[in-house]
Amino acid sequence: MDFNQFKEKINHKFNINLNGYKERQLKRRIESLMQYQGFSDYASYFSALENDPERWAQFMDKVTINVSEFFRNPDIFKTLEGKIIPYLIEQYGSLKIWSAACSNGAEPYSTAMLLKELSGGKHTIHATDMDDKILALAKQGRYPANIIKNVSDHRKRNYFEEINGNYQLKNSAKDLVSFRKHDLLTGRYEGGYHLIVCRNVTIYFTREAQMELYSKFNKSLAPGGMLFIGATENIINYQELGFEKYLPWFYRKAK
Ligand SMILES: C[S@@+](CC[C@H](N)C(=O)[O-])C[C@H]1O[C@@H](n2cnc3c(N)ncnc32)[C@H](O)[C@@H]1O
Repeated sequence: MDFNQFKEKINHKFNINLNGYKERQLKRRIESLMQYQGFSDYASYFSALENDPERWAQFMDKVTINVSEFFRNPDIFKTLEGKIIPYLIEQYGSLKIWSAACSNGAEPYSTAMLLKELSGGKHTIHATDMDDKILALAKQGRYPANIIKNVSDHRKRNYFEEINGNYQLKNSAKDLVSFRKHDLLTGRYEGGYHLIVCRNVTIYFTREAQMELYSKFNKSLAPGGMLFIGATENIINYQELGFEKYLPWFYRKAK
């Protein structure tokens, strides 16, 4: 079995489209895990993945890369707070937001804090990720200190309770956010969003997969809605995809 056949088998058995990921990076990560676990060929590794949930969890960990933190790139979150959310609230009143590839929940919960502080309106945040394990942690909302290092003391006091050196998010910070499993490469995209936050995941995807995803995000946004991308990302052909550049890292769906 070669790498392409391995990817096909994974797709067939687990409904995960590994063809959407940059091949060299992905192959390197998978082969280093195989080597570490003592597998020298794809066929025996696939058979182990099929039969051993623990191996499958380790494989998912390697593929997904769950690094995240509250207010990641604080300066850009300042723009979200000071310019984007106030603008969207003025336009739409209540906001429907999607945090796509939300990892441990730091991203949707940071967004929820801003909404709570900026308006008493009735907003909803749908937070999705393909990884069940990280979604369970996100729902739990307990974080080590390094994940909340960008949270101000004031917000720490308001939204967290310290328990044995970890920080437990209070229910008052959780109520706007609902979590659901969703794969950006194989899942259906819901519509009517005013803000889609999708950061630090498309960097792992092929260019074709990125273009398809941005085009689907465009359809998922309400006219004038905003797409918020990662600090190292850039959508070169945004006009072709139906966006206008509103501010760095924020693209608005053309009306
Ligand atoms: C590096 S984290 C980014 C988290 C957060 N957006 C941030 O910027 O801090 C990437 C996340 O993308 C998720 N992911 C990877 N491939 C995905 C896919 N095809 N569909 C949905 N989520 C995916 C991973 O499980 C991981 O939680």
